[in-house]
Amino acid sequence: MDRAFEAQKTLARLLPGINAKRWKNKSAKTEFKANLEQHFNKLFDALVELYGHHYDLHFHLDRLLKHLAAHYDANQGNKLASTDPYWYQSEKNLGMAVYVDLFAGDLVKLRQRIPYLKSLGVNYLHLMPLYLSPEGDSDGGYAVSDYRQVNPELGTNEDLKALADALHNEGMRLVLDFVFNHTSDEHRWAEAAKAGDKRYQDYYHLFNDGNEVAQYNETVREIFPTVRRGSFTWVEEVDAWVWTTFNSFQWDLNYANPEVFVAITDEMLHLASLGCDVLRLDALAFIWKQKGTVCESLPQAHTLIKAFNACLRICAPQLLFKSEAIVHPDEVNKYISVEECQLSYNPLMMALMWESLATRETQLLTASLKRSFQIPQHTRWVNYIRCHDDIGWTWDDAVAGQLGINGQDHRLFLNRFYTGQFEGSFARGVPFQMNPSNGDCRVCGTLASLTGLESAVEAQDADAIELALGRIRLLNAINLSMTGLPLLYQGDEIGVLNDHAYLDDPHKREDARWVNRKPLNEKDFALAASSDTVQGRVAQQLQQLIKIRQSHAVFGSSQTEILETYNPHAFSFARIGDRERLLVIANFSEQRISIPGTITDILASRQMQDLLTGKAIKREEPIALDAYQVVWVLTSASA
Ligand code: GLC
Ligand code: GLC
Repeated sequence: MDRAFEAQKTLARLLPGINAKRWKNKSAKTEFKANLEQHFNKLFDALVELYGHHYDLHFHLDRLLKHLAAHYDANQGNKLASTDPYWYQSEKNLGMAVYVDLFAGDLVKLRQRIPYLKSLGVNYLHLMPLYLSPEGDSDGGYAVSDYRQVNPELGTNEDLKALADALHNEGMRLVLDFVFNHTSDEHRWAEAAKAGDKRYQDYYHLFNDGNEVAQYNETVREIFPTVRRGSFTWVEEVDAWVWTTFNSFQWDLNYANPEVFVAITDEMLHLASLGCDVLRLDALAFIWKQKGTVCESLPQAHTLIKAFNACLRICAPQLLFKSEAIVHPDEVNKYISVEECQLSYNPLMMALMWESLATRETQLLTASLKRSFQIPQHTRWVNYIRCHDDIGWTWDDAVAGQLGINGQDHRLFLNRFYTGQFEGSFARGVPFQMNPSNGDCRVCGTLASLTGLESAVEAQDADAIELALGRIRLLNAINLSMTGLPLLYQGDEIGVLNDHAYLDDPHKREDARWVNRKPLNEKDFALAASSDTVQGRVAQQLQQLIKIRQSHAVFGSSQTEILETYNPHAFSFARIGDRERLLVIANFSEQRISIPGTITDILASRQMQDLLTGKAIKREEPIALDAYQVVWVLTSASA
């Protein structure tokens, strides 16, 4: 069929419904129709691809367009008076992810913390899921019972709107989670399914036949093997198994049903109407299932994201998607495009910085980034060191193999290194989701505890403290200079250590990720405000890096090149901007190293200065780096 022709024919049939709507806002109607003209074909393409065989697709399309129109009409004016559509490429950007309750108490108190965030240089605030969710264990809010209601413990919908406005007034952006792979088992759709409503049972993947479940389990990866084996949970009420990739109370939605796509899009638009600027697409790799496959990152998952994206282009064009795919690097990269996610977590660089810190060797980091770092124009990595989750070792084993590293063995080593089972390790991490069948696990812990600050402070070892501070600075210095939007995780900016209080809470005890989710209190911030505490030093060294980053355009838009250093401990890259060039070299070891001066050839200049020490760099002299030292060598092309 001629898709373009069919799309236009369908649009012509649907437009009378749009025209008949009572528009509050006349100019909104004209704009909306112009957006439809421009983007409807993409939406139609994706939906025909997924649902072309459904006799009632036209009905769903009609509903969908009505939702989009209603949203566009109702939401004029609550966006950040914008500016640059490519704002996410700027050197001014700095992100921070926080839990409303753990960081501030509630939404009103969080508003009072805006000056703190601003003083740090933060202009992109990701609030961990803050919607209504089951009492007790809710996977930190990732089990959503109602996308339209803020969790009453955190505040009201009005509080959230007021926060969004307050952030926008300060030129800051709000990032919310779109948890769309699953709902909680208390969501009204799940409740209706449990009550026997066939229509809502089709919103989820329910199976009466245990053999079918077993067939799926054969090929599907277990994400939370300590919660239960396999990916399904028995539901008494309906005598059936339901698909639960994560916890048993998180029911995966059935996107093979077009009604689910339309219904969840309406929930997504509600989040958009709260005034957020970026939606984090949670667990997006898992949204399409097909028997006999791994049920991760299937082509249909990409088609779905394209369809969601087309909806935004039509009715909330300022909004961006951030991909949360913590999977094989090739699969991570496939979600990144202007048609899918403009932003993506960079789990490869994250994991390999930790790998280099443990081994003191950078070959895997260098080789992997050379292969996978480049992404399309107008897309950006969200670079991070730690987040609310665990660290998973998601590099490409083929790249490791070429370097003589056995990927699986190396993962076991890193897990031991970071969880106190390797003699001489500086790290204090906690294992997460140990799989009894294959010994796989992931690692939890805060930046400060994983880099050795906790063990050094405990041993009152001044040299070890210096080394730990050096590791923290090293990771921050790479994160803040690498192309992309750097994202801090709450507490890491002030050197917070692991918190074991979760072990006393029956709803958290089994989930080690809570070790890096400490409720921050006055004392934590006071310690960091003082210049003679280790926390104060963590805060100060970070603030210095942020200030420098934000004052040079080369940290924003420029070409990136990963460099060979021919030194096993050094990692290096260059950023080539229009007027400035930057060379970053980092020493991942405790030893002093020296890099031949020829590495600066890429800067093509005789006038060079290390921004971090202020020292001039001479082209003919080798560059010496002390333990964990980083240099940010800057030049201007005209020099
Ligand atoms: C994402 C979240 C994680 C959560 C999972 C299920 O990976 O980051 O915290 O457990 O999705 O929603
Ligand atoms: C798995 C998933 C990832 C999620 C994490 C939570 O690694 O791939 O999406 O964040 O589990 O632990």
